[in-house]
Amino acid sequence: MDKEAGKKRAGQEAAKFVERGMTLGLGTGSTAKHFVDALAPKAADGWQLKGVPTSEATRRHAESIGIEIIEPDETTIIDLAVDGTDEADPNLNLIKGGGGALLREKIVANAAQKFIVIADKSKRVAALGAFPLPIEIEPFGWATTIRNIRTGLKTAGFDNLKLELRIHQGEVFKSDGNHLIADCALGRIDDPATLDQLLGAIPGVIETGLFCGLTDIIIYGDEDGVSIEKA
Ligand code: A5P
Repeated sequence: MDKEAGKKRAGQEAAKFVERGMTLGLGTGSTAKHFVDALAPKAADGWQLKGVPTSEATRRHAESIGIEIIEPDETTIIDLAVDGTDEADPNLNLIKGGGGALLREKIVANAAQKFIVIADKSKRVAALGAFPLPIEIEPFGWATTIRNIRTGLKTAGFDNLKLELRIHQGEVFKSDGNHLIADCALGRIDDPATLDQLLGAIPGVIETGLFCGLTDIIIYGDEDGVSIEKA
């Protein structure tokens, strides 16, 4: 399957949900980039779109095509947020954060009146967990936090987990908010919402890449077209 074509189709389909004057949450990653690209003709046509970007990379890209950038706290309404995902299950739960933007992505998705996820069809899984779960953590005391995550996960029955601090180009990865990411290979997550709560209760954990109960619509693209799943 041509994944890039699927991502582009999904991004273009999501752009059909955009209306004049909307304030949009703009996701991060290669699929979300296709959505922002699809906004360029609308921006050029005077649609007066505003964007709340979920990363500095998306901010630069959206600015370059003429979308007015605003901070989340400059608005009380985000009409629609559109973002990619690393995995999605049949209940529209997600693992996100492969690009390290999960905290801002979750804040924006949660604030939006509607959250549309776009993905190539290969991201659809029967159960989450083959993709290592990103967990954003505070740098202060990070090793202690990681020990506590490991203990918590073992208690929850994840015996063969692999937990690593994310390294990027030889350096410890830092998010746009200057936090660290621990990537946690779990294999299979049967109850993502409970796991999210368990991890979120550990001091030092800022956010997890589990997005449960946030998605309204997923648009999958493949070489034949798009398919849509609704909550
Ligand atoms: C960024 O932190 C992620 O949540 C991305 O949305 C996710 O990794 C999907 O990225 P791609 O669209 O590049 O696959």
